[in-house]
Amino acid sequence: MKIIVTKDYEKMSLKAFEVLKGVVKSKPYAVLGLATGTTPLGLYHNMIEDHKTHGTSYAHIRAVNLDEYQGLPKDHPQSYAYFMRENLFKHLDIEESNTFIENGMAQNEAEECARYNKLLSELPRDIQLLGLGSNGHIAFNEPNTPFGNETHVVDLTENTIKDNARLFGDILEVPRKAFTMGIKQIMQAKQILILASGANKADAVYQTVRGRVTEAVPASVLQLHPNCIMIADKEAASKL
Ligand code: GLP
Repeated sequence: MKIIVTKDYEKMSLKAFEVLKGVVKSKPYAVLGLATGTTPLGLYHNMIEDHKTHGTSYAHIRAVNLDEYQGLPKDHPQSYAYFMRENLFKHLDIEESNTFIENGMAQNEAEECARYNKLLSELPRDIQLLGLGSNGHIAFNEPNTPFGNETHVVDLTENTIKDNARLFGDILEVPRKAFTMGIKQIMQAKQILILASGANKADAVYQTVRGRVTEAVPASVLQLHPNCIMIADKEAASKL
């Protein structure tokens, strides 16, 4: 794993943007694996600004997202579908029909997972962007998820529910379950770009980079990926 430590969040977002723009420029039909959370917001802001000022086009780009809360419709303000639309897609020239995410409202979980698995097999990711949960999760693959899992439904841990409650009015409104791409599929991306910012990620960053590769720390699997870059700001990297 290549590790880049930056002075602050802005520099982390700028470095991440350079990597992502490189992919989009060299391959106009690229498949981007995208992530939600507060961490990639700076990167998304840079992509939007660059699109506006330099005209970088996403007209043929396909975007596949990692995860979605179960029970939230795509126009719910806390759904990840809504997040992606509001924070990125609607500001770019990407076709809505080229953006993919699990359907949080799917009645039949197994069918929805199978649909997404098929889609992922048809859209191999050129780059997969990841945030990092403070407990070392990637997407919604919580600690002790088998590395071989494909898309599945997870029971979110109390830790994750607490972390994500800040984005909801009340902790009781945070869904208890989610659909997530599996670790096996995350690892299939040609390149992985994982971002971490802030002191509350320092332990997870340490475990991811220096710890043992173990299912207890899902992100530690990234040590086994041949082309993975971690960009962490100083605070997130403070324990390395
Ligand atoms: C959520 C998402 C993850 C994300 C993580 C960190 O649980 N499912 O994909 O990486 O939170 O979020 P944040 O970037 O807001 O710290």
